Amino acid sequence: MGNKTLCIIKPDAVRKKYIGDIIKAIIDANFEIIGLKMTKLTKEKASVFYAVHKGKPFYNDLIEYITSGPIVVLALQKENAVEEFRKLLGPTDPNEASEGTLRKKYGENKSINAVHGSDCDENAAIELSIMFEKCEMMDCCGM
Ligand code: CDP
Ligand code: MG
Repeated sequence: MGNKTLCIIKPDAVRKKYIGDIIKAIIDANFEIIGLKMTKLTKEKASVFYAVHKGKPFYNDLIEYITSGPIVVLALQKENAVEEFRKLLGPTDPNEASEGTLRKKYGENKSINAVHGSDCDENAAIELSIMFEKCEMMDCCGM
């Protein structure tokens, strides 16, 4: 069981000024933020990040959405981080999410759902390496 996961505050949530509220919820849920940056994905990088969804009906819209504006990317640490963060996140569709989850509070619908979280340890490691250089994460410099 790994202890790191990748979170993205997606363009809709950045546009709606939810960055602060979402980061506060993450800290309140006892995740340690070990990497954080604001960036805007190119189509190329988005297609690498979402390679597993290539060919699905929603793929083109997903690439348009995730590249539509700035995002905030966070490397998070906690015991059992992937599962714990998916619990805080809620399911893909905010309409099916429980009260208190990030997608329930900040998401609009199954496509525009405010926040990303890795779905397994293997993908967390891949996604972290796509989004962060090792030297951009706190645990590389002994902090
Ligand atoms: O993000 P999550 O792991 O919950 O869901 P996913 O199945 O890995 O899909 C990735 C993203 O694609 C979702 O978060 C949605 O933004 C989008 N999506 C969509 O637009 N329509 C769907 N039917 C499924 C996913
Ligand atoms: Mg996923």
